[in-house]
Amino acid sequence: MSVACEVWWSRPLASADDHLHTLDDTERGRFNAYRQDADKLRFLTGRLLARTAVARWLGTTPEAIAFDATCEDCGKPHGRPRVIGHDDVALSLSHSGARVGVAVTAGMSVGLDVEATSRRAAGDLITYALNDTERAALAQLAPDDAAAAFFTYWARKEALMKATGRGLKIPLRSITLSAPGEPARLVAADDAALDPAATTLLDVDPGPGYRAAVAVLTDKAVDITERWTSF
Ligand SMILES: CC(C)(COP(=O)(O)OP(=O)(O)OC[C@H]1O[C@@H](n2cnc3c(N)ncnc32)[C@H](O)[C@@H]1OP(=O)(O)O)[C@@H](O)C(=O)NCCC(=O)NCCS
Repeated sequence: MSVACEVWWSRPLASADDHLHTLDDTERGRFNAYRQDADKLRFLTGRLLARTAVARWLGTTPEAIAFDATCEDCGKPHGRPRVIGHDDVALSLSHSGARVGVAVTAGMSVGLDVEATSRRAAGDLITYALNDTERAALAQLAPDDAAAAFFTYWARKEALMKATGRGLKIPLRSITLSAPGEPARLVAADDAALDPAATTLLDVDPGPGYRAAVAVLTDKAVDITERWTSF
C-alpha cells in the first residue's frame, strides 16, 4: 500500500493586513523579527498555508490548528513545526522567491524543499553541495542545463535533510543522489538518519523557474497530490 502526501503551493501574500490575526503570539514575534517585508510575507503565507493544509487533512478548521516549532537544538521557536495534539499528521514548510509550499503526511517524517533557479550556482556553492560523483554528472551537461540540474540536486538534498529534522547539520556532500535527469533516488548517505532502503524521494512541480522535491522516511511508494491555493 502507498503512503499519501499532499503538497500545497501558494504565492506569497501581497499584504499582511487581512491575515496577521491568524498568527499566535509566538508566530507574531517571529513575523515582527524579520527585517525584510518579503520575508515577513513568506513566513505569514507559510503559516496560513500550513493551517489550511493541515485543517483539510484533519477535517477541521484552520483556526483549530496550533503549531509548536520549538527548535530541538536551542529551544527557540524557529524549528520544524509539529501540530499540537496531533501526532497523526506531519508537515514540512519551504519558501523561496515567489513560492511557498507545505507537504503533509499521516505522521510519516516528511521534508519539502523549493528553490528558485534564478540564484547563481557559483563554483563554491557547487563544491559545498555536491560530491565528486555528482559534480562529474554536472560536468557532462551544457552550462544552462548544469545550472538547472544543480538546483534539482539541491532541492532533493534539502528535502532529505529536512525530513530527518536535522536540516543542514547533515553535510550536503555526505548524501549521494541519482543523476539529475533520472528519477529522484537516494543512492547512499553517510548519516544513519538516512537509509536509502527506507527513504522515498520525489520531484514536485512549483512551476517554471523553480525546482522542488519531497522526501518521506518510508520504504513504501508515496502518492503525491499537488494543489495550488491563494489567500
Ligand atoms: C531548515 C533549514 C534547512 C532551512 O532551509 P531554507 O532553505 O533556508 O528554508 P526553507 O524555506 O526551505 O525552510 C524553512 C522551514 O523549514 C522548517 N524547519 C526549520 N528547522 C527545521 C529542521 N531542523 N528540520 C526540518 N525543517 C525545519 C521551518 O518550517 C522553516 O520555515 P518557517 O520557519 O517559516 O516555519 C535550515 O534552516 C536548517 O538546517 N536548520 C536546522 C539546523 C540549524 O541551523 N539550526 C541552527 C539554529 S539553532
